[in-house]
Amino acid sequence: MKVLFVASECVPFIKTGGLADVVGALPAALASEGVEARVLLPAYPAVKAALPKAKVLRQFPRSFGGRGQLIAGKAAGLDVIALEAPHLYDRPGNPYLAANGKDWPDNHLRYGALCRVAARIAVEGCDGWQPDVVHLHDWQAGLTAAYLKLGRRAAPPCVTTIHNIAFQGLFPEKTVETLGLPEKGFHPEGFEYFGKLGFLKAGLVYAERITTVSPTYARELTSAEFGMGLEGVIAARRTQVSGILNGIDLDIWNPAADPEIAKTYSAKAPAGKAANRKALAERFKLDPDSRAPLFCVVSRLTRQKGLDLLLEALPRLIGRGASLAVLGSGDADLEAAYTAAARENPGRLGVVIGYDEALSHLMQAGADSILVPSRFEPCGLTQLYGLRYGTLPLVARTGGLADTVIDANEAALQAGVATGFQFAPVATAPLADAIDRCCDAFADSKAWGAMVRRAMKHPVGWETSAAAYAKVYREMIEAQR
Ligand code: ADP
Ligand code: GLC
Repeated sequence: MKVLFVASECVPFIKTGGLADVVGALPAALASEGVEARVLLPAYPAVKAALPKAKVLRQFPRSFGGRGQLIAGKAAGLDVIALEAPHLYDRPGNPYLAANGKDWPDNHLRYGALCRVAARIAVEGCDGWQPDVVHLHDWQAGLTAAYLKLGRRAAPPCVTTIHNIAFQGLFPEKTVETLGLPEKGFHPEGFEYFGKLGFLKAGLVYAERITTVSPTYARELTSAEFGMGLEGVIAARRTQVSGILNGIDLDIWNPAADPEIAKTYSAKAPAGKAANRKALAERFKLDPDSRAPLFCVVSRLTRQKGLDLLLEALPRLIGRGASLAVLGSGDADLEAAYTAAARENPGRLGVVIGYDEALSHLMQAGADSILVPSRFEPCGLTQLYGLRYGTLPLVARTGGLADTVIDANEAALQAGVATGFQFAPVATAPLADAIDRCCDAFADSKAWGAMVRRAMKHPVGWETSAAAYAKVYREMIEAQR
């Protein structure tokens, strides 16, 4: 079974968040299910650099305002097809934002071109390879479904995965014509979203199936609170929506063989974690109390992640003798607030503003607990890394966080199944209470140790979910016969 992934990010080439981790890891997991996946990406500078011996597959003299060509090659174990169009993608840094922090004004062209080419590969094949299924990831790939379904030629079925409905790819009506889309699709049952062109909406309306990255988020998306205006579209297609949990790459995130950490360790031999705690404390100039947990955060600093609530709960955390290391970047006001709070709490709160993949590994290895107080979280990956590294997740009970962490309540403790802490509703007081519970639990080092070992054994790989995706693909192919 051949599957074409269409995405705007992919580890290890380009990443702004968990989407890249998923697109980079899922193809290898699918291989065990007999799926041959190729990943279509924009040829950003980092993608081109990873494909020095790429083969040119075909050329497009006109590709939304310039020349384009498709190149292909193997990199980091992935079969990559890249759309080279320097006028669209030859820009370093964050794929979506210009240096002024605003979206590139031509993002509709940049991702519209990607979708148009994806549809051509789907219908015509390229390099003697034609997909049986097209798998679209997030809004940047969504328009592919419209090009396929509103086009005149027979097309393979496609599935759209929602990684985050907060990003919908909305553009003015006039872009419909620029992107060569048929006017007949511009209505509320098509790709129109309240007078605008909606890339993600197109993906949801025209794809045969929809998936999202956890069962809880799949349910939440049908409500006004979480659906961000698309809840009706999703609810109407309820029977074609599946929630499939993300996994993590067990080779990249492996405390027993992680080159980025101070000392390797495992569930059987967890002692090495202490050396990482020490290294983490030094890196963040913290002076942690051995009787209280050292917490960490690795996150985009945005409203989604609820880190404003953590700032409000900080006095409780520090009052309990605990300390906190934060690695993140994002909204200027949150960056400033964390930097100021670190200045006011030397030795107890350490903050690194920026994006640092290597440091994120040391944080997972060195902290006792990772905090994820998100207002919404489609799946979340940092709590999964936390489980694997024995860094007990303390999470908001929402989306994938609710599905992956077992709260240390009395029943779960008695049954010996707890792996972390959950709180609800997502507000400062419940968060602070959960921090208290975590500090209490940490004080019982024997019980804490048992929970750490259990968390480290919790299955967080791709196996089950890769099988679930393969099943969706097979059902789509079957339905088309
Ligand atoms: P989201 O995709 O919403 O940002 P996820 O938890 O799914 O949330 O994925 C976030 C990914 O980005 C994880 O791999 C996490 O380790 C990484 N990450 C987030 N912020 C940083 C940062 N400042 N430095 C390094 N890695 C980060
Ligand atoms: C999104 C979500 C996150 C999810 C990731 C990968 O960025 O915010 O919860 O884990 O996509 O699916």
